[in-house]
Amino acid sequence: MVKKFKRHTISAALPYANGPVHIGHLAGVYVPSDIYVRYLRSKEEDVAFVCGSDEHGVAIELRARKEGKTPQEVVDFYHEQIKSSFEKFGISFDIYHRTSAKLHHETASEFFEKLYCENKFTETTSEQFYDQNEQQFLADRYIKGTCPTCSFPEAYGDQCENCGSTLSPSELKNPKSMLSGEAPILKETEHWYFPLDQYEPWLKKWILEDHKEWKSNVYGQCKSWIDNGLKPRPMTRDLSWGIPVPVEGGEGKVLYVWFDAPIGYISATKEWAKQEGKNWEDYWKSEDTRLLHFIGKDNIVFHCVIFPALLKAEGSFILPENVPANEFLNLENNKISTSRNWAVWLHEYLEEFPDKQDVLRYVLTANAPETKDNDFTWKDFQTRNNSELVAIFGNFVNRAVVLTHKYFEGKVPSRGDLQPIDMEVIASIASIPKKIEDALNQFKFREALSSMMELARAGNKYLADTEPWKLIKEDEGRVGTILNIALQISANLSIVCEPFLPFTAKKLAKVLNIESKKWAEAGNVDLLSSSHQLNQAELLFEKIDDKVIEVQVNKLLETKKMNDEENNASELEVLKDEIVFDDFVKMDLRVGEIKTAEAVEKSNKLLKFTVDIGLETRTILSGVSKFFTPEEMVGKKVVVMANLAPRKMMGTESQGMLLFAENSDGKLVNVNPGDEAENGSVVA
Ligand code: 2FM
Ligand code: ZN
Repeated sequence: MVKKFKRHTISAALPYANGPVHIGHLAGVYVPSDIYVRYLRSKEEDVAFVCGSDEHGVAIELRARKEGKTPQEVVDFYHEQIKSSFEKFGISFDIYHRTSAKLHHETASEFFEKLYCENKFTETTSEQFYDQNEQQFLADRYIKGTCPTCSFPEAYGDQCENCGSTLSPSELKNPKSMLSGEAPILKETEHWYFPLDQYEPWLKKWILEDHKEWKSNVYGQCKSWIDNGLKPRPMTRDLSWGIPVPVEGGEGKVLYVWFDAPIGYISATKEWAKQEGKNWEDYWKSEDTRLLHFIGKDNIVFHCVIFPALLKAEGSFILPENVPANEFLNLENNKISTSRNWAVWLHEYLEEFPDKQDVLRYVLTANAPETKDNDFTWKDFQTRNNSELVAIFGNFVNRAVVLTHKYFEGKVPSRGDLQPIDMEVIASIASIPKKIEDALNQFKFREALSSMMELARAGNKYLADTEPWKLIKEDEGRVGTILNIALQISANLSIVCEPFLPFTAKKLAKVLNIESKKWAEAGNVDLLSSSHQLNQAELLFEKIDDKVIEVQVNKLLETKKMNDEENNASELEVLKDEIVFDDFVKMDLRVGEIKTAEAVEKSNKLLKFTVDIGLETRTILSGVSKFFTPEEMVGKKVVVMANLAPRKMMGTESQGMLLFAENSDGKLVNVNPGDEAENGSVVA
């Protein structure tokens, strides 16, 4: 049985206030949560939509150190920037709070004290890395070293950003403190642990049995955490930036950022309730409130396992009904990375694409990483804008309004007798809101958006099929009927597109000269009465030119170039890990001679060579056209990696690899074995 709730508390993950927000944040968390909340509000449900800046944690301390600022200065800056980006994108939080606020410190401290007084923590001594020079314990992020998996020399103590492995500082080779640059020592320290293992049986039942309806990516991750066995987790840290541990012996220690951050949802609700004259406890302690957490996949364990277990231990709070976490959005086939500046930053988008917030909201929803990681490309952004928003939605509404002005002085004409084609499109008006609702109720935002577009598509097709502009001379009444229906579809669109495209919904309501309407009215074919006066048509969307897209693509190419140069520089500085002779002899390196060379059609990088390697002639593709012309390569002696598995590139199989040396400026130089070396001879 589906439970009917009286109110909803909807949280969106608190972003760290240590950098701007990007499209990955928007796609994964803020656009879907905003769609959902706007839909609930349109259904006149009681909702508290809470978010805020996550202002503690090591990353913030590190950034402050790097910039020669205090952590408070760093979070003050980014809090304002992030808040403003969200506002400008129409993310309609009821409150955007911050975890450095006094009310949050009090709320988190009280929560900790209660668990402490009820003996819900265990005190444990462990050995942690310590920087003797700085006289400070080192959080995992404060330690850098060589990754044991990929040999990246700059891996952090908790994660390698190069290969994505999760690490612990003791696994790093050659660990160094990021504070002093010295090798850290191990030293004992005492912390308060939350015995998560004791909650395992309860979590097993609560998630694995009682919440089988959770999204499969969320359920699967929870199952794997639980199946692997849960361990006690320290809830305090040896840091100075954060909420001081409010109990005896806690001096010099702070609450773990993942202890206080989710409590940020509670303190945000408290602040909002205070401002609105409401009772915050109704939103957190009442069984008829539905709590939902919108997050990205990296936050699943904290929201599905640790925070609920803490709430359970505290005892007076409700638990989340669902945690509709999304996967990650990539950008042009690469992982979005703040440190590598591989992102589309929201504050930059807002400047470069003024008044196009809905376009990005649309593209990010159409392409949302709901069940697997997905890719954002500028080309797709352009296509979805030009071929969907402009050519279907915008074109349809514009035609309906312009023709009404042209033939009926902008007054909604009345409907006469209906033909089958009219009935068909009227049926779409009636059925589509339900389809959108069903999808939204299951957090299927892509599907919901596509149903919304189905209505615009149906309207567009209806006008194209009925061609009222051809009928006006002979049958004005029929044209009136067609335009009436088209305008009713437009009015319906203004309701059902609002959760997805709030700016467009407003514009559309203005053009139709109506007040914003609620969800209950969607599906109705009499939203506009006859003779209702429309306003002048206004373009809802405009075409995006190739040139605009090129600018964005070039910006990314520039970033890539800079990152590659930096990588090359760090590759040059550090020798790779030692290998054994057996590893070396696995490579079959041969002397070869280039017989023919040509550019590969449609590729601006590849050259195609045929290479005589003694026993046979191979076809080999190489991304070197920036450095060599085909003509200059013919006749050159080369070293060929002959037993590399063949690989298909641009439709041609490459049967080996040519070796080149890369100079510090990135220029490639042929590894020339000299004319005396015979084709096919082994390089060893
Ligand atoms: O991953 C992050 O960006 C965290 N700042 C999310 C915190 S969500 C909640 F717990 F506050
Ligand atoms: Zn690595």
